[in-house]
Amino acid sequence: MSKHRIAWLPGDGIGNDVMEAARLVLDAVELDAEYVHGDIGWEYWCREGDALPTRTVHLLKTVDAALFGAITSKPVKAAEAELSPEHKGRGLTYRSPIVRMRQLFDLYVCLRPCKAYPGNPLNHREGIDLVVFRENTEDLYAGVEFGPVPQELAATLKGLSKPFAHFADLPGDEYAVSCKINTKHGSERIVRAAFEFAKQHGRKKVTIVHKANVVRATDGLFLEEAKKVAQDFPGIQTDDANIDAICMWLLKNPFAYDVLVAPNLYGDIISDLCAQMVGGLGFGCSGNIGEKLAVFEPTHGSAPKYAGQHKVNPIATILAIKNGEVVQQIQGARPKVDFENMVKNLLA
Ligand SMILES: NC(=O)c1ccc[n+]([C@@H]2O[C@H](COP(=O)([O-])OP(=O)(O)OC[C@H]3O[C@@H](n4cnc5c(N)ncnc54)[C@H](O)[C@@H]3O)[C@@H](O)[C@H]2O)c1
Repeated sequence: MSKHRIAWLPGDGIGNDVMEAARLVLDAVELDAEYVHGDIGWEYWCREGDALPTRTVHLLKTVDAALFGAITSKPVKAAEAELSPEHKGRGLTYRSPIVRMRQLFDLYVCLRPCKAYPGNPLNHREGIDLVVFRENTEDLYAGVEFGPVPQELAATLKGLSKPFAHFADLPGDEYAVSCKINTKHGSERIVRAAFEFAKQHGRKKVTIVHKANVVRATDGLFLEEAKKVAQDFPGIQTDDANIDAICMWLLKNPFAYDVLVAPNLYGDIISDLCAQMVGGLGFGCSGNIGEKLAVFEPTHGSAPKYAGQHKVNPIATILAIKNGEVVQQIQGARPKVDFENMVKNLLA
């Protein structure tokens, strides 16, 4: 029997190509693992009306970790149009299975290291070494959305919010509402994970990314919680920046930054920017880490136009395997998978 049980989730498009390449590496380093295939992605949405079938959720409850390729996601109407005839009209709503996995298993840390490997001609500058901590379960990705907007919601908002007067007379099918939900608990734990990481890896600074000057309630809460956490780490420099400004500053002065921590959407945005600064999405890797499970993946999506051609860069997926080394610190317990040894072998 193998020492480790790993869910193998290639998903859609180039997810399959990059997972094949990752497997060559894992086999070459002779990781003592059993890889168990899990169904996930667009095909299962179209055929079964569920992009994350229950059997895959059950599988994830039995594994030490998972490696995930990528999925294709489409807007609500396009998704409904591609459902097989027997599932049309059942009121099914497509939700990205990776977002669902993150919420179902409370994979609250999205860890995205972006390091310029020496001599890569695609580097924005040599020597960039940034680590993004993206909150992974809340914010605009909470999934609480209304389109069309029901009358009860409109009436409640009209009674509670002055700025809503601007929209109050619109018919419900003329607008949509997506709720940005940020909790004190969710904000505190992602910021703490970022600071703990900084402390354990000798990083000098953590930058809190937000837009609290405009998005006052939710980003205000995030910033406030983050500042409280920062007080527990006096040895680490802290600053904060608006999401728009940081996109400019990162490009201009990449060496002024080190670890960045952000709510879900801003974390998603700066992840792509940071990945591009170290060679592009083919170098951007990701770990979705919770207390009981970790799902590793490249940051990129399914890039359908390149699917099956085996020509995209698999390094992001291979680096995602390396992300496993920090699981121990985040989960505060020995990981079931000996990632440290695996990484040593990978880098040898
Ligand atoms: N976690 C995920 O699975 C995830 C993430 C982002 C997007 N998506 C989905 O993927 C689909 C395509 O989205 P998209 O085109 O906006 O983003 P994408 O990341 O799939 O691709 C954008 C572009 O980046 C480049 N690229 C991506 N991966 C690369 C690699 N490994 N090597 C070299 N170049 C690479 C390609 O030029 C590609 O056209 C959509 O359905 C989207 O919803 C999924």
